[in-house]
Amino acid sequence: MNRVKLTKESKVLGCGDRGFSSVLGEVTGAEVLGFEPVSEMRIVAENNRLQLLSSSIWNRAPGRSFLIGLLTLAYKKILKSKGKISVVIRYRILFMTKFKTDQEKFWAEEFGTDYIGRNQDPALLAANLKMFSDVFASCKSSPTNILELGANIGMNVKSLQLLAPGSEVTAVEINSDACSQLAKTGCNVIQGSILEVDIPNTFDFVFTKGVLIHINPEELGRVYDVMYKSSSRYIMIAEYYNPSPVGVIYRGIPNRLFKRDFAGEMLDKFTDLRLVDYGFCYHRGNFAQDDITWFLLEKSNA
Ligand SMILES: C[S@@+](CC[C@H](N)C(=O)[O-])C[C@H]1O[C@@H](n2cnc3c(N)ncnc32)[C@H](O)[C@@H]1O
Repeated sequence: MNRVKLTKESKVLGCGDRGFSSVLGEVTGAEVLGFEPVSEMRIVAENNRLQLLSSSIWNRAPGRSFLIGLLTLAYKKILKSKGKISVVIRYRILFMTKFKTDQEKFWAEEFGTDYIGRNQDPALLAANLKMFSDVFASCKSSPTNILELGANIGMNVKSLQLLAPGSEVTAVEINSDACSQLAKTGCNVIQGSILEVDIPNTFDFVFTKGVLIHINPEELGRVYDVMYKSSSRYIMIAEYYNPSPVGVIYRGIPNRLFKRDFAGEMLDKFTDLRLVDYGFCYHRGNFAQDDITWFLLEKSNA
């Protein structure tokens, strides 16, 4: 293998790049350009401060899916520039992680990564602030130690850091790309599946929002156990409610979204839990959420 020493005079081209090459630039001083054809990943790359080549190069690449054509055009473009050129091609090594359920694999892989780009709207942050301020108004005291299961890039975490300043937030997330962004919020990140992770501590506020609906129904009991055991006081469930369990086609795919009375099932399973409050976030309302119903439960001996 030929090794190339990167210097300030070097130029680096990262292909299929969500912004990892920008780290090379920061460390070595080299000029770094990224190449990313997928629009949602381009947003991620830009957030990672990567200077991107125009996507029109991708559009002109023969057959679009032929990486070699793409590279030839990209090289041609970059080779026009003067100075010493280093071209770095990042090979992505895919570790075939085995997941217990199809739903976990779905979120850990491409669909989950693509979802990131759809979950960044500032209006969502405002809506989360409204929802959590309603929830906290029903708590006897503001939480100091919070656990979120299935946190994605941290849109809830960011609002919690504003509403409960000084609180420590820990978040579990299965998708590695989401975890990279989640870490930037400064919360404690546990990368892994809710069905597998070992959560050593207890928290005074444990919650999910839009996550139980994506768990394989056979495994829900296990997630209820995790939520119950890791909470010393409050549990909040913000999900799509339905009085009886139903499966819904999600973005054209069956078996990826399930609605039911998650909170009611927890109240039945753990008899020391009591219902403190609940609320509905209508999609046509001010601070709209996607028709989510939240339920605040409390351990009665807390
Ligand atoms: C619809 S998103 C909701 C994200 C976040 N709770 C919010 O309200 O913005 C579902 C999230 O749960 C994560 N997720 C799904 N199944 C998971 C599992 N078994 N373990 C950990 N995270 C999971 C997904 O990767 C995704 O980030």
